[in-house]
Amino acid sequence: MKKIIYNKYGSIADLEMTEIVIPSIQADELLIKIKAVAINPIDWKRLEGQLKIVTGSKFPKGIGIDFSGIVEKKGDTVSTFQIGDAVFGALNAMKGEALAEYIVVKENLIFKKPETVSFETAAAAVTSGVTALYLLEKSKVKSGDHLLINGASGGVGVSAIQMAKQKGIKVSAVASGEGLDFIQKWKPDVVIDYKKQNTWEQKIAYNAIFELSGNLPFGKAKSILKTQSVFANTLPNPVDMLKAFFNNLFSGKKFEIIMANPTQKHYQELSEWLTLKGLEIPITKTFSFHEFKEAYQFARKGGIVGKVVITF
Ligand SMILES: NC(=O)c1ccc[n+]([C@@H]2O[C@H](COP(=O)([O-])OP(=O)(O)OC[C@H]3O[C@@H](n4cnc5c(N)ncnc54)[C@H](OP(=O)(O)O)[C@@H]3O)[C@@H](O)[C@H]2O)c1
Repeated sequence: MKKIIYNKYGSIADLEMTEIVIPSIQADELLIKIKAVAINPIDWKRLEGQLKIVTGSKFPKGIGIDFSGIVEKKGDTVSTFQIGDAVFGALNAMKGEALAEYIVVKENLIFKKPETVSFETAAAAVTSGVTALYLLEKSKVKSGDHLLINGASGGVGVSAIQMAKQKGIKVSAVASGEGLDFIQKWKPDVVIDYKKQNTWEQKIAYNAIFELSGNLPFGKAKSILKTQSVFANTLPNPVDMLKAFFNNLFSGKKFEIIMANPTQKHYQELSEWLTLKGLEIPITKTFSFHEFKEAYQFARKGGIVGKVVITF
């Protein structure tokens, strides 16, 4: 089978397609024939060595965490799934190797794909959608609150706007370029162009901020947060973790670090959003498996609205 790997930290040029034997499975595992893989920023952060403290120096490494596919084989103790089931899920963000013709997973990592949802959409929904669910839960925002989404046109941002608006939350959405028009369909209450305005100089006090851009430090965000509020950051670093710990002992402006880890409860909730609550997962462009380098180059350059998906 074919699998995309890299043998050193570097750039998209270092990705290569290799031919390996289809892996065997243990009694509690399933073999999934991949139908679609969605790209996430974590993929190139790992490839570029930005997370090497965690990802280590053992190579080759695979790439890709969000996938959908079909159960090809199952181990004797697997009870929830049958051969032929269409499923979707995410591999561990620090070890993902979903960009391959087959992968091996345990049953807690996958969920039955709703029939009305395409393989592409299911793969594209996982990390973005589950992270949006985490953000809403951890920030405790409720109907009538005012929320700032900093990075509203990306994968996580478009899910977060839709979920927040359906819950009656007032949303200020920060984006740029094409993203500014694109997000209008979900009717954000305020739109901020980060290339023209300083987000932290708004004359609005927020109940919560979702920081998805890596460009809004807590120190600056504090000036636009209410006395009792939450700053939820998806891009944690060790300094932020310490800062959050000490800040939260004394301040009503809480600093929450988000580490999305999809569970069966999240997959269930996400499936309901996709099938019953009209959650849209915009896919900007799809590429075929053999175009994996073009796909990553397209996603890596930024300025993209929604998701980029590789199909098999
Ligand atoms: N901790 C976790 O569990 C977790 C889970 C999922 C994602 N993440 C991280 O969260 C971040 C967002 O994920 P994503 O998938 O939504 O990424 P994405 O699709 O690349 O979206 C990033 C968004 O940030 C915007 N942006 C860039 N520079 C900005 C700035 N200076 N001010 C405001 N907005 C800016 C981009 O807009 P333009 O394109 O217009 O520049 C885009 O809307 C990524 O860094 C990802 O690694 C973490």
